[in-house]
Amino acid sequence: MKSNKIKNTAIIGLGYVGLPLAVEMAQSGYNVTGIDIDENKVNKLNNGESYVLDVSDNDLQSVLDNGKFIATTDYSKISEADAISICVPTPLRKTKDPDTSFIISVVDELIKYLTKDTLIILESTTYPGTTEELIQTRIEEELDFKVGEDFYLCFSPERVDPGNKEYNTQNTPKVIGGTTEKGLELAVELYGSFLEKIVPVSSTQVAETVKLLENTFRSVNIGLVNEMAMMCERMGIDVWEVIEAAATKPFGFMPFYPGPGIGGHCIPLDPMYLSWKAKTYDFYNKFIDLASDINGNMPRFTVHKIGDILNERAKAINGSKILILGMAYKADIDDLRESPGLELYRLLEAKGAEIDYHDSYAESFLNGDEKVYTIDLTADTLEEYDCVVLSTDHSNYDYEWITEHADLILDTRNAFHGISSDKIYKLGAPIDDNKRVSPLFR
Ligand SMILES: NC(=O)c1ccc[n+]([C@@H]2O[C@H](COP(=O)([O-])OP(=O)(O)OC[C@H]3O[C@@H](n4cnc5c(N)ncnc54)[C@H](O)[C@@H]3O)[C@@H](O)[C@H]2O)c1
Repeated sequence: MKSNKIKNTAIIGLGYVGLPLAVEMAQSGYNVTGIDIDENKVNKLNNGESYVLDVSDNDLQSVLDNGKFIATTDYSKISEADAISICVPTPLRKTKDPDTSFIISVVDELIKYLTKDTLIILESTTYPGTTEELIQTRIEEELDFKVGEDFYLCFSPERVDPGNKEYNTQNTPKVIGGTTEKGLELAVELYGSFLEKIVPVSSTQVAETVKLLENTFRSVNIGLVNEMAMMCERMGIDVWEVIEAAATKPFGFMPFYPGPGIGGHCIPLDPMYLSWKAKTYDFYNKFIDLASDINGNMPRFTVHKIGDILNERAKAINGSKILILGMAYKADIDDLRESPGLELYRLLEAKGAEIDYHDSYAESFLNGDEKVYTIDLTADTLEEYDCVVLSTDHSNYDYEWITEHADLILDTRNAFHGISSDKIYKLGAPIDDNKRVSPLFR
């Protein structure tokens, strides 16, 4: 049931997070204005064209048709909103420090157009304290509004998992922390009216830290299993077989899988937000740094392995034709941000490989100033390559068919599991038991 107090909402930032939230809210009967600085995106949306895989053109068109959603670049529209959700990017600077400039520029606009009694909810992933330090303080100082009296403020981390067929915006529990009781109450009423489950917490700092714990948990566990993969490879053990057997334990174990590296806008970045803030308290998050180091080195480890398997054919990376299959950072999505495939491309190119990629979800990417396009995947093209590297295990790949036509394969995801061929080598498994280097001491 719709909130009684809130009728008009504004979603600022219509990307992977903001657009699904906007459409979900509009489907529940709220009048939603989506605000984005990208005019191209705004035009596409108003023409019923979704650029986010999790939002169908049909769903978008129906909320446009019934007048419940409109996109705009005009920030003055926020003066009409009873509630505003902020979903702008929170990247890292080159020095791996948080780049909160997107949030700050949204606050610059809020200062111009915010009206009294509005609820503001920050959704962007960020370090504990951001909501109060960057939003509350400036609005209180520059507008002379008092939080809890003239405006209300919450943090509610977005947990959407793009491409996840089971969990979406609607059925993923939503954590919310408010700066005041009344703010929390309003946000719970708003989100509780169209989302399945709300998890209120005692403060914005707790809500901010929840999100960072979740993604640090993933980063650390992936780091652990990547380290296991490197160790297993050296010891002549297949890490995939180890994980599969360990995962049969019905309690106390949760499988994570190794790979060529981590990508996306969350796992590689979010833990760095936490460790950056912790350092201002003279606290050093050793797990975060270690996981970031191990995960960040996986593309180099993968390139090393490509060199090793080419060596089996008396070839070098330099001068070899190499095809990367899957450039998105994970299966069945089109997001290339921080993708380890991009790093593989760069590293192999630097070593003199002649390199192409294929991805049916991502038709091009920028390599410096050069736009690189996917190749068409045919039996003939596959046969041209000295090595095919499966970087992202999209479910539309026919692994039997690839095995039939490729000459040499590095499988970084265990996607060729069950296919028996001496062309296939796996990351995290020995190249050849007979060529195993013996331990240092017997
Ligand atoms: N992508 C994910 O899977 C995911 C999951 C959970 C949380 N998050 C978090 O959600 C936030 C948004 O991520 P995203 O993946 O949706 O990013 P995105 O890049 O897909 O979308 C952000 C949108 O904000 C717009 N924008 C930038 N500055 C703006 C401004 N000043 N005013 C209005 N619009 C502006 C951009 O044009 C873009 O359309 C980030 O903090 C991210 O960490 C992302």
